[in-house]
Amino acid sequence: MVVHPSILILRPTRLFFLKPSLSLLNRTLSINPQRFSVRCNSSITTESLNSDTNETGRSGSRSAPPAAGTQQKIDVNPPRGTRDFPPDEMRLRTWLFNNFREVSRMYGFEEVDFPVLESEALYIRKAGEEIRDQLYCFEDRGNRRVALRPELTPSLARLVIQKGKSLSLPVKWFAVGQCWRYERMTRGRRREHYQWNMDIIGVADIFAEAELISSVVTFFKQIGITASDVGFKISSRKVLQEVLNCYSISEALFGKVCIIIDKMGKIPIEEIKKELALVQLPGEAIEELLQVLSMKCLTELEEKLGAAGEAVSDLKQLFSLADKYGFSEWIQFDASVVRGLAYYTGIVFEGFDREGKLRAICGGGRYDQLLSTFGGDDIPACGFGFGDAVIVELLKEKGILPEISPHVENIVCSLDRDLQGVAAAIATRLRGRGQSVDLVLENKPLKWVFKRAKRVNAARLVFVGADEWQKGMVGVKNLSTGEQYEINVDELE
Ligand code: HAM
Repeated sequence: MVVHPSILILRPTRLFFLKPSLSLLNRTLSINPQRFSVRCNSSITTESLNSDTNETGRSGSRSAPPAAGTQQKIDVNPPRGTRDFPPDEMRLRTWLFNNFREVSRMYGFEEVDFPVLESEALYIRKAGEEIRDQLYCFEDRGNRRVALRPELTPSLARLVIQKGKSLSLPVKWFAVGQCWRYERMTRGRRREHYQWNMDIIGVADIFAEAELISSVVTFFKQIGITASDVGFKISSRKVLQEVLNCYSISEALFGKVCIIIDKMGKIPIEEIKKELALVQLPGEAIEELLQVLSMKCLTELEEKLGAAGEAVSDLKQLFSLADKYGFSEWIQFDASVVRGLAYYTGIVFEGFDREGKLRAICGGGRYDQLLSTFGGDDIPACGFGFGDAVIVELLKEKGILPEISPHVENIVCSLDRDLQGVAAAIATRLRGRGQSVDLVLENKPLKWVFKRAKRVNAARLVFVGADEWQKGMVGVKNLSTGEQYEINVDELE
């Protein structure tokens, strides 16, 4: 049967979810899957994906671009799942990022960044992760396969390999960058988000994980979140590894099993069992795995796996360090946490809201073998990613989202059009002294100026009138106390 590709594009939403059948269709139709996914993504009808949010956003042009020179009324909403940042949103974002940066610096981390556009190959991993299906990828004009980064960790690994021996270890880097995932949108999950990452490269001991969790705890405290609002579920991928070892299951299967296990709670347990059986895990191993993964107590795990293994000793060490740092009340052992990215090898953790209303607030872990998958020499590494969306939802839930007003130190105006140049000179003088100035650029009545001063939250009004200026004087009004006086312009500080 020959099916024209356009028929497929008519029902793209279905295709988005039915990944296994997609490859079958591709084979039947001999369509290049890479190209196909691009066509598919760009034509997806997103309304159904967004049913649980009331967000605006256009679904993107599904037709050919308009011909040059033709006038077309544009949709003024940003593409669905993406955001504009008008001043009030931008102030909140800046406040959040400043807190990310302040905490990172408090812990001695240096800031880095990477391109938003990376080679697609950086994100192709064997284990069948969700992130691969969510990739915004395309072929550029030079026929290179590229992708908008869905996360920062592969870029960081690339840079570490590129810098090679010139890096003095350990490296402590942080980044705040935009990531893109063609995600099913729910509260706190969108197509574009910013992530704060902190990573330590070159430390094999659990001290690194403890330092990272401590930094997130410090961040939470700094913005008014307490241990009764938020907790961290902690486990180790070595738990899974040790169970699989008992059944002599190959190392190659490990990543795949982790990705399947990560779906626990998202799809029915019977589906999980089926998927595990599909990767040839024996029934007995599946049952044992699920039993271990339900454990929430470290002593129980120790009884099962013994104290000699790395899984138990790593976790015990982390819990003991938490005590020293003073963040014990924030963390709990939960064997079901494995995380959805294939590269983690040891401790994994996720921040969650205790009321259980939101998706994961942050997540991270140890990834000691990622570098070799890119052809580099392995260096022990761990880190976390913390999104900008869920935390804002949490602050709203708690009623502690800060209201950040604009602020300017001076508003400067002339009361006479001929004195506009003088007002500009006064603004320049104040700016030269490091002060912020909102200069009124048109000849406006004082009533208008006061209204604007209130809106921009100015601390002081400086005004130039003809009579005062003849004496080299300007008027000053302190807008919080109401005090008003004249001052010689040379004395204006
Ligand atoms: P991840 O769990 O995929 O890990 O993402 C980390 C955090 O980014 C999530 O917990 C969430 O706060 C935020 N996030 C992820 N996807 C979205 C989305 N679609 N919308 C809004 N927020 C989102 C990673 O990305 C790892 N690379 C983290 C890491 C760094 N591991 C080691 N170093």
